[in-house]
Parts: sequence; structure tokens; C-alpha cells
Amino acid sequence: MPTALKIDRPLVLIGLMGAGKSTVGRRLASHLNLPFVDSDEEIEIAADCSIPDIFEIYGESKFRDLEKRVIDRLMDKDPMVLATGGGAFINEHTRTRVLHCGTVIWLQADLDVLIERTSRRGGRPLLEVTDRRETLKKLIDERYPIYGNAHIIIKTNGDTMDSTVDKILTALSNNSESPT
Ligand code: S3P
Repeated sequence: MPTALKIDRPLVLIGLMGAGKSTVGRRLASHLNLPFVDSDEEIEIAADCSIPDIFEIYGESKFRDLEKRVIDRLMDKDPMVLATGGGAFINEHTRTRVLHCGTVIWLQADLDVLIERTSRRGGRPLLEVTDRRETLKKLIDERYPIYGNAHIIIKTNGDTMDSTVDKILTALSNNSESPT
């Protein structure tokens, strides 16, 4: 396992709801001795309002605007592990900014894994639907080609969160060996 990884820019985790960004992000941050930040939590703090309430009271476009501004601000900070909400990287401004300022890591997971994982917690307005499978499938079709712009792609199917962290550490050390 790589030990002396030098991280000099934010590590930005992207992927669909249920991909494990927050859990993996927390563990990765603790391995690397870096702060962990969750963009959804930062949005809730900035708005003093929960994500479901922001969607319900102000609408999705207000949420997207807050998301863009919060991530913009975070990119000015020192290295950290940042778990982003599943839609953040779809915004062109955010995508350009995180690709420029950070190392973007896509946690890729198949539909069945996402369905199983998203059943464990609510609070996701886009999944308050009768057919979660259909919604997630549509999001996969729309978003996976865009997530494909990430610097690093980690396939997480069937992995424990810890083995996903190991895969990321290995990918980061391979990444830092290649000329940029
Ligand atoms: C969203 C994902 C959520 C949250 C919001 C919208 C999305 O975050 O930002 O409900 O558009 O995919 P997680 O991916 O952390 O669940």
C-alpha cells in the first residue's frame, strides 16, 4: 500500500447517489490525514435548511445554484477530500472548476448496487419517486458519460468501502508517478 502520497490539491469524489462518496471520502480523508468535507452538508449549513427542504421550498434550481457556489468556494481551500452530491459535476462551471483545481475521482457503481445502497437512507428528493430503478437508470444514462471526464475512475461493484479506499490510494500513487 502506498505510504508517502503527497496530496497537494483537493480530492473530489463524484458519482451517483448511493455510490459511497461520503463513507469512502471519510475513510480516505482519515487515511491521508486530510480534512473531509461533504458539499451537501456545506449547502445545508450555508442555507440553514435541509436538502429536502431546499428542494421543496426553493426548488431544485436554487439548490443547484447553492451547490455551484459552495463548491466554487471550497476549491479555493487547501487539500481536502470533498464528497460532492451526485448532480454537482453535471454543472459545466463546477465540472471545469473541479477538473482544474482538484483530482476528480468517480466512484462508479452498477444499477443494482445503487438501488440497494440508496434504499438504506432517505433525504434524497430526486429518489422520492414510485420507481427508483427507472429514475436511477435514467440518471446513469444521462450522467455516466459526463462522469467519464473524471481523472480517475474506480469501479466499486462488490467492493467493501475499505477496498474502494485501497483502490483509490493505489490509483493516486500511480497518478502521481505519471508526468502531468
Ligand atoms: C443529488 C444527490 C444528492 C444531493 C441532492 C441531489 C443528485 O447527494 O446532492 O439530493 O442530483 O444526484 P448524494 O449524491 O450525496 O446523495
